[in-house]
Amino acid sequence: MNIDGIPTRTLRAHPEKRVIDIIDQARLPHALHWVRLATLAEAAHAIRAMQVRGAPLIGATAAYGLALALGEDASNARLDEAIAVLGATRPTAVNLHWALARMQAKLVPLMPAMRECAAWNEAADIAEEDVAQNAAIGQHGLGLFRQIARRDGRALNIMTHCNAGWLATVDWGTALSPVYAAHDAGLPVQVWVSETRPRNQGLLTAWELAQHGVPHTVIADNAAGLLMRQGRIDAVIVGADRIAANGDVANKVGTYLKALACTDNGIPFYVAAPRSTLDFACPDGAAIPIEERDGDELRVVHGLDPRGRPSALLQLAPGEAVGNPAFDVTPARLVTAIITERGVCPASRDGLLSLYPEEAHG
Ligand code: MRU
Repeated sequence: MNIDGIPTRTLRAHPEKRVIDIIDQARLPHALHWVRLATLAEAAHAIRAMQVRGAPLIGATAAYGLALALGEDASNARLDEAIAVLGATRPTAVNLHWALARMQAKLVPLMPAMRECAAWNEAADIAEEDVAQNAAIGQHGLGLFRQIARRDGRALNIMTHCNAGWLATVDWGTALSPVYAAHDAGLPVQVWVSETRPRNQGLLTAWELAQHGVPHTVIADNAAGLLMRQGRIDAVIVGADRIAANGDVANKVGTYLKALACTDNGIPFYVAAPRSTLDFACPDGAAIPIEERDGDELRVVHGLDPRGRPSALLQLAPGEAVGNPAFDVTPARLVTAIITERGVCPASRDGLLSLYPEEAHG
């Protein structure tokens, strides 16, 4: 997608220099700052500190993190250590573990001397596949949008939560890919962007929609139900961090409440995700680990001061007890459909297996 009109991906690999460059998303939307990662420790930190975030981008970064680790030492012990370090960074997004397992299967059979080069190649394949799969999600989602589009030419009003856009992937995004596809195809869309406290990923969504010229409005998370009741929302579309075998969906905390409100108001609730987000080994949402993050994410608000300088404000006393679960689980029965790179299916075991019959053995 574009930054200032220039096609840009969220991650740039430079195997010849043994580094990757990422956008520091902890500083967006207030500053666009690229960070160079050269070591396993730097890659793990970038994921943990959410300089990179969003399930598919976490997976791609972890794959490159392994390549960085093997440049230092390609022994079996180092490979195991690097997989353990990267795997411990964030628990909910299964794309992380999917990418590490894929890298491990590729690298373990190789002689150590062959591993670094193979790791860079495999990580590049993961990144390229992410782009292609997200583009396909966009086309399948566009088909759904066309079915619910107004005949009177009025814009389709789409609500989303968190950031499942270009920034959360290598390119295109998942939930926002159909939005970009619709916009580019001349189907007018208006996006309602929920702020997504406490980390405000909605502001990332607003930033990237603005870069692409897509009309949008930011709302407080708590305004979503009102807009739905007023008949101002045609569909909600979100991404996912993990979809269990029965179709239950883990995504950014607050997603479940939107799905409940959609159900009460007869509004379709779509989940867009690539194969790397599907966890056929996980029976249902109750088995999905939910990340609990630092309470300072609630205590401290980040923004710009009146002079435009980055600024942090304490809104709770340091000793105040806070809970900060980063994700919730939306039961499959509240999900209208899942959109993957292979098509659209019901949120159920049978639905998912209709798109991925090769997983039926499990
Ligand atoms: O904590 P984050 O910002 O990594 O959470 C991101 C989300 O919940 C996204 O909706 C999900 O990863 C899908 S991204 C295409």
